[in-house]
Amino acid sequence: MSERPRLLPLLGGTRHGSRDAMTCLYRCGNACDHPVPNSSDNPYFGDLVDAEVSRRGVVRAGAVGTLVLGFGGAAAGALAGAAPAAAAPATPTAPGTDEAVAASARPGSGALSFKPIPPNKLDTLVVPNGYDHAVVIKWGDEVVPGAPAFDVRQQSAAAQAKQFGYNNDFVGVLPIDRRRALLVVNHEYTNEDLMFPGFTGQDALTVEQVRVAMAAHGMSVVELERVTDTGQWRPVRRGRREYNRRVTALATKFELTGPAAGSAWLRTAADPKGRTVVGTLNNCAGGVTPWGTVLSGEENFNQYFVGGDGAPEELKPKLARYGIPTDVRYPSGSRKWDRADERFDLAKHPNEAHRFGWVVEIDPFDPQARPRKHTALGRVKHEGANVIVARSGHVVAYMGDDERFDYLYKFVSDKKFLPGNSWVARKHNLTLLESGTLYVAALTGDSPAGEIDGSGTLPADGGFGGQGRWIKLVSGNRSYVDGMTAADVLTFTRLAGDKVGATKMDRPEDVEPSLLTGKVYVALTNNSDRGKAGKAPADEANPRNANKHGQILELVEERGDNTAETFTWSLPIVCGDPADASTYFAGYDKTKVSPISCPDNVAFDATGNLWISTDGNALGSNDGLFATAVEGPERGHLKQFLTVPLGAETCGPFITRDNRSVFVAVQHPGEISGASVENPASTWPDGDFAKPGVVVTWRLDGGPVGS
Ligand code: FEO
Ligand code: CA
Ligand code: CA
Repeated sequence: MSERPRLLPLLGGTRHGSRDAMTCLYRCGNACDHPVPNSSDNPYFGDLVDAEVSRRGVVRAGAVGTLVLGFGGAAAGALAGAAPAAAAPATPTAPGTDEAVAASARPGSGALSFKPIPPNKLDTLVVPNGYDHAVVIKWGDEVVPGAPAFDVRQQSAAAQAKQFGYNNDFVGVLPIDRRRALLVVNHEYTNEDLMFPGFTGQDALTVEQVRVAMAAHGMSVVELERVTDTGQWRPVRRGRREYNRRVTALATKFELTGPAAGSAWLRTAADPKGRTVVGTLNNCAGGVTPWGTVLSGEENFNQYFVGGDGAPEELKPKLARYGIPTDVRYPSGSRKWDRADERFDLAKHPNEAHRFGWVVEIDPFDPQARPRKHTALGRVKHEGANVIVARSGHVVAYMGDDERFDYLYKFVSDKKFLPGNSWVARKHNLTLLESGTLYVAALTGDSPAGEIDGSGTLPADGGFGGQGRWIKLVSGNRSYVDGMTAADVLTFTRLAGDKVGATKMDRPEDVEPSLLTGKVYVALTNNSDRGKAGKAPADEANPRNANKHGQILELVEERGDNTAETFTWSLPIVCGDPADASTYFAGYDKTKVSPISCPDNVAFDATGNLWISTDGNALGSNDGLFATAVEGPERGHLKQFLTVPLGAETCGPFITRDNRSVFVAVQHPGEISGASVENPASTWPDGDFAKPGVVVTWRLDGGPVGS
């Protein structure tokens, strides 16, 4: 646009909790306005505490200051394999340097010495002194070679299907060699107010504009090159760029795998065999696998469907459990995609909704390969999935279902990981997520229920923690849930979790194992309904009623075995303003930590520090990225590393294996009610109107980030 637009004055008014109303509308279809879908009466945590017979004397996870070292064999292979190019047949150069850095890393050895940045409300990206940053790629930039130049006033679905999509979320950077890498990004959702000039409402969009939005969803794969010898990366702009690819909600075909593939629940008029789905929806977070592919979670897929009132009566409770209203044709916030494709109308195609909500696997090194949706990992509102190779060689995927009062899951593969980058190993590893055992978590506290009063006051033993067990839901084709077949359990996994008494959590977002320790970290973002009348009260893992700021849960599997069926857990961080008595930072001096609110995505650097990004900062500052050690004396010393511009959420984050670059996704900049293309609330990154984009941050002196 030629003229500089007028900036929208900040509106303080219309907010749902800590999020702007516009974010609620577009990102999750006004989920907070709808009833919590989990109305099951499975036991409250407190009941389970009281039922525990002998819980004293069990070593608290949070009190164990020692490292879980001595990972050998398969785990070491997993770490090396985490440099994904090792698994790619089309990429002959092994990323030796990156692997060497990772293999020499020790937990806690990377002291975080950067000076934390202060909370702020600036419309820019802020990094610490001694760091620089650059936009790597943003909405509308070329992905597929030959994509039309972006013109906000001349958008088409065909152009968008070749350009970088909207609202980048997950970020993975898979090295090809020291100088080249593949950037893999999710595009979670669209915000038509901020995309189309002159927007007056969803109904006024042309069908072509609806198709633009469908093409702006999905994923992007983009070949990057290192800028000179720095930690900066940029897209390769010349040559074949054979890996560059867009995956969209509009046209990309996915293969369903696993026990539920082909089941009656997944068959539709367009796909009578129930094995091929067009598109992926609301891809939120994800993970890079040890065999060099990317997993992506289909999250708030419910908001794309209409006609729930016309669905078969027997299906309505199942649709409702996934947040699809069954009493109206057009739920509030509906995108009305049925205008462009009638399969989004559940009155006509009631099974179409069941074909979303899966974990997707894409092989970025094989652009011809059809991406897959793995039914063996269950169907929920998947935030993402992160994989570790257990000592036994089985692979374990950890997953969260991001909804108030929903559950934590893990999947253990039937087959074992084959290390190395041979064709045989690669072909084998690509099948690992197609068969295995799916578990849901039940947690108990180790303090008397009376000591958990919903205020966040620590129990008498000095910390929130306890034990847990993984409840088996299904193994291969065998169901462990009464009255449900394996296909039932995998397609309606939330209902299975309800039946077996899984623990209702405060919105489980990223769940990620540290490849150095095997310990698992869960971002529990918030839960406005915790403790409300008729809702589950505070428990030891979710210890604050009306939880505004969220918490981080650390899960330590029995004997350090990621396939174990029991674990201990603790809350190393209870988020908020450190001046607030209900916060906790692993016992670290609270005058030295940064305020943090609404943890969402987590990542690890090569030395095992935990990096946490936020979504919906309820303390009034812009969202940001934080880092803390999780082992040793610096555990809990949380420091803010960056903030994103106004209205944005910090997603990604990804720290390269050589520890020289931090990538984040700046999602929904300027998403503040009343904003538009002509009247933006943010002008990041180009000074005209807001565009989501991926940013890389690096140290000016070339040193390791964070330290
Ligand atoms: Fe898409 Fe759970 O955030
Ligand atoms: Ca998220
Ligand atoms: Ca989020």
